[in-house]
Amino acid sequence: MKCLALASGKGGVGKTFLTASFGLALARQGASVLLLDGDMGLRNLDLPLGMEKQTRYTSWDLARGRCFEEDSILSVAPHLDFLPAAEEEDWKAVSRPALSTVLEDLADRYDYILIDCPAGLGKGIRFAEKAADAWLIVVGPSWASRRDALKTAACIGKQGRAALVFNDFQTGSDAGVSLAELIDSVDGLQVAGVIPHSSKGNRLAQQGRLKEYQRDSAFGKAVELTLKSFLTGTVYPLSRWQSLLQKAKKEDCERENRPAGSLLLRQRAKAARWRRR
Ligand SMILES: Nc1ncnc2c1ncn2[C@@H]1O[C@H](COP(=O)(O)OP(=O)(O)OP(=O)(O)O)[C@@H](O)[C@H]1O
Ligand SMILES: [Mg+2]
Repeated sequence: MKCLALASGKGGVGKTFLTASFGLALARQGASVLLLDGDMGLRNLDLPLGMEKQTRYTSWDLARGRCFEEDSILSVAPHLDFLPAAEEEDWKAVSRPALSTVLEDLADRYDYILIDCPAGLGKGIRFAEKAADAWLIVVGPSWASRRDALKTAACIGKQGRAALVFNDFQTGSDAGVSLAELIDSVDGLQVAGVIPHSSKGNRLAQQGRLKEYQRDSAFGKAVELTLKSFLTGTVYPLSRWQSLLQKAKKEDCERENRPAGSLLLRQRAKAARWRRR
């Protein structure tokens, strides 16, 4: 089993979204995967997975013997399970050694355990430090996010391999910050991949239907390529990621234009009817 932790430093950069996306991608490739919500007190991983209503028991209940494994571990999709975080208690109240024991008991059952860490460098990160073999540190499209990610990388530096994932990037005039400049300034850390902004991915996540994202979309391809890069150590050139950003932009434009186009057609047909009268 490999335990991968997703952290960031800065909040809101897509850790939860990517934990779910990477887990789904690995499960689609046939690996058995457990997604662990490590954000005690501020859990969210149930939402993109559409598991909000099924979530009754949590990893903390399991650690305290308040439920059985089958009560708290939920099946999301073939090969993909999910263990929710506590909602009422935060990391101050939750015993890290007890949760580590839960993970140790589950380790043999999965090829991968993915931990969705909280933002910042608090106790949630300390828990993941003990469990994780490798880290994916998520960087959003801002210099502030890059700075916090590098701080996080330095903090967890000795605990397993770490690589950066640039998430939610756009191309051309839509990009607020230059991807090339950001990548040039990461102090020799491995860049595992660049994930494009995906309006469709976000919409699916908001509706709890992220598992429906398409493998052959730019987003789906970037997710798989990032995993491949991270797991095999292959480094892909910037041009490869930039072409996926272009493809994502094209897909988003096509999707946005479709309703506008059909509206235009309906308006033209209406105008033609009026002219005939
Ligand atoms: N590549 C992307 N394309 C489109 N939307 C995205 C992308 N990545 C993240 N989002 C959206 O950005 C929002 C924030 O993402 P998410 O909740 O995963 O961040 P987080 O780092 O886990 O936040 P927190 O630090 O609060 O835990 C979500 O609404 C998510 O759907
Ligand atoms: Mg989160």
